[in-house]
Amino acid sequence: MENKITQGDCLKLLKQTPDNSVDITFADPPFNLKKDYNSYKDSLKLQEYLNWCEEWITEMVRITKSTGSIFLHNIPKWLIYYASFLNKQADFKHWISWDAPTAPMGKSLQPAHYGILFYAKDAKQLKYYEIRCPHKRTRKERILAKDYGGKKFMLHPFGPLVSDVWTDIHRIKHNKFRDEHPCQLPIHLLERIILMSTDEGDIVLDPFNGTGTTAIAAKRLGRQFIGFDLDEQYVKITQQKLEQEKSISKIGDCWVSFYLDQVVTLRNDDWDYLKDFYSIPNIAQEIDTTQIVLKTKVRIQTPLKSLVTLNGNGNGNGYHDSQTTLFEPTVHYGLNGYKRKEAHFLQKKLDKENQLI
Ligand SMILES: C[S@@+](CC[C@H](N)C(=O)[O-])C[C@H]1O[C@@H](n2cnc3c(N)ncnc32)[C@H](O)[C@@H]1O
Repeated sequence: MENKITQGDCLKLLKQTPDNSVDITFADPPFNLKKDYNSYKDSLKLQEYLNWCEEWITEMVRITKSTGSIFLHNIPKWLIYYASFLNKQADFKHWISWDAPTAPMGKSLQPAHYGILFYAKDAKQLKYYEIRCPHKRTRKERILAKDYGGKKFMLHPFGPLVSDVWTDIHRIKHNKFRDEHPCQLPIHLLERIILMSTDEGDIVLDPFNGTGTTAIAAKRLGRQFIGFDLDEQYVKITQQKLEQEKSISKIGDCWVSFYLDQVVTLRNDDWDYLKDFYSIPNIAQEIDTTQIVLKTKVRIQTPLKSLVTLNGNGNGNGYHDSQTTLFEPTVHYGLNGYKRKEAHFLQKKLDKENQLI
């Protein structure tokens, strides 16, 4: 099943997947909110929905390796049940609160976050990497949004360690960046999860593939993917998008997550290497007003290429081609192909020639 998207019922397909065989599992299931999917009726009776969820969650835990993680994305209403299923078979790590407005529910506070439950199959053996995101800055002046007072010198030049509240990743806002699917997640949300919990070559499985956000994130970051979806059309869209993707979301030798022309997630352990690719203010206090930037020799092309997706329009063979610009950039890095040490050396040489530092 590796590096394939399979059409079918995930419960059946999960049951065919061996025990302890994938590095992480991520699920973004239907929320039982009457969403308009092609092949799935999103309105089960409460107990029927919960029984079904418990079945595939149990399978997800079974197939995840003992070093692996299980991630479940949903609204809090369902996650509290999911946690009760998971607590019996895995170790709680976090409830990640992903700040994203959702529809008003009537007689309630305005729901403003989705949850991502993060469980370790076995907390003692868990593979986990600390990750960093850029400092939050004001939109126009680009100064630090938080007041750190006299503590600025203590700040990491790139940005803070990522907490369990994610406010810097936005839902896909423009229709032109969407596929024909009612609820597509942003790719850099999945890239953050993958960078934090897997290594290059690891296997990432998503039983509710949709139009392939998880698989694309995995491929961009040099991981393997497995995806399942009931719907033939969503599977086709995913396959066609995957054909356009390359495993090149890197700077030099390090995998990073980009959104537009910026790195939005990197691993803390990689900073010693990555810092040479950035222009960093000499004086720590300047961090307040000066955003660190990738040096000009690091070329990021955005948008790099256009992507043809298949959108159903009900004519002839049921499809027509439409141009969609890639939402996230793909990165062509000038030093790609060089070994870490050589790249490092070459970058220094280029910098000297161009007086970048
Ligand atoms: C919330 S969407 C996932 C969206 C996905 N995360 C993305 O970003 O594109 C849920 C998906 O589950 C699929 N689905 C529903 N029931 C399923 C089942 N029993 N087996 C496999 N897929 C199923 C639906 O077709 C839908 O595409």
